[in-house]
Amino acid sequence: MEYTVAFIEGDGIGPEQAAATKVVLAKLEEAQGLSLNLIPVDAGDRAFKDYGEALPQESFRVIKKSDCCLKGPVGQSAYDVIIRLRRDLDLYANIRPAKSLPNVPCIGSQTDLVIVRENTEGLYCGLEWADENRATATRVITRKACLRIAKYAFELARTRKKAVTAIHKSNVLKKTDGLFLLVCKEVSDSYSDVHFSDMLVDAAAMNLVRNPQAFDVIVTTNMFGDILSDEAAQIVGGLGLVPSANIGDDFALFEPVHGSAPDIAGKNIANPTSLVLSAAMMLDWLGRKMKDPKTTEASQLIHRAVEHCLSSREVTPDLGGNLSTAEMGNAIAAHI
Ligand code: NAI
Ligand code: MG
Repeated sequence: MEYTVAFIEGDGIGPEQAAATKVVLAKLEEAQGLSLNLIPVDAGDRAFKDYGEALPQESFRVIKKSDCCLKGPVGQSAYDVIIRLRRDLDLYANIRPAKSLPNVPCIGSQTDLVIVRENTEGLYCGLEWADENRATATRVITRKACLRIAKYAFELARTRKKAVTAIHKSNVLKKTDGLFLLVCKEVSDSYSDVHFSDMLVDAAAMNLVRNPQAFDVIVTTNMFGDILSDEAAQIVGGLGLVPSANIGDDFALFEPVHGSAPDIAGKNIANPTSLVLSAAMMLDWLGRKMKDPKTTEASQLIHRAVEHCLSSREVTPDLGGNLSTAEMGNAIAAHI
């Protein structure tokens, strides 16, 4: 089967990571007989400069027509690109795994957790008002969004270590997080095989550092999920390693957790793994959706190749190595 993938290369380190990822995907096509039609799509700061819009209509049209979207990080225009795509395509589940990997220095060895972040509402609805003296943001939490994200988390937990922790601040945000927690508890009643617990977000931030191995699936609201996923990334070795998926009922977008990293952009030293593993999540999603075992296998091949690369310390400077972005991409491809 051939799949059409809308590919946003993004800003900053995005194009460097994208070039490395293309080498890996080309190798998979050759090795697996996989056929991926990568369609370049303009979006982000560069698109804003060129067309006056961070997400031009034509880009949105191409993305909608594709089987899925692979996206590098974008810069200042992140809100106009990714928050809009999540909302307009109703990609309600943001899945952010943090798993320790071989030979990667980190503070949380043996960690294997997934953050399931509500992706469409909370404080990221863009409902902000300000005058000279007062600024207000509205936090929207609906039963519908809580229900579907909680169900997603419990279903995922069933395929893993069967534990869900709801993270919230319902002692202060009594109405909004009160509703979120209530719905999570209600959903837990239908999953007696999954252990359910809840934790206040401040304690969770501490426990993630103290005992990350204790978590399996974390379910949380939009902003807490955003913040905790950068923390979880560092616990397993850094932002350069972790992928993510934005999943809706029939479309999905895959991207690194991190941003455009302007501090290292243009130096060819960014770790390409976060985008390469995002492509692996994409192939896994496609394989399940299309019932195509070859694609699922391709995803597993990427994981094994990345692990080989890490084990043999063929890595970029963020992990203590001296490979460039392109060299690490080539090394991953060579292990396929
Ligand atoms: P960032 O996530 O870009 O970078 C944070 C730190 O992690 C930096 O020190 C960076 O060098 C490092 N890092 C990130 N990715 C790396 C990689 N692959 N390899 C090695 N090191 C890596 O966060 P920052 O600097 O706060 O944001 C930069 C821009 O990214 C902002 O304009 C923001 O709006 C945008 N952004 C976009 C996102 C998206 O496209 N989904 C998500 C987050 C931020
Ligand atoms: Mg973030």
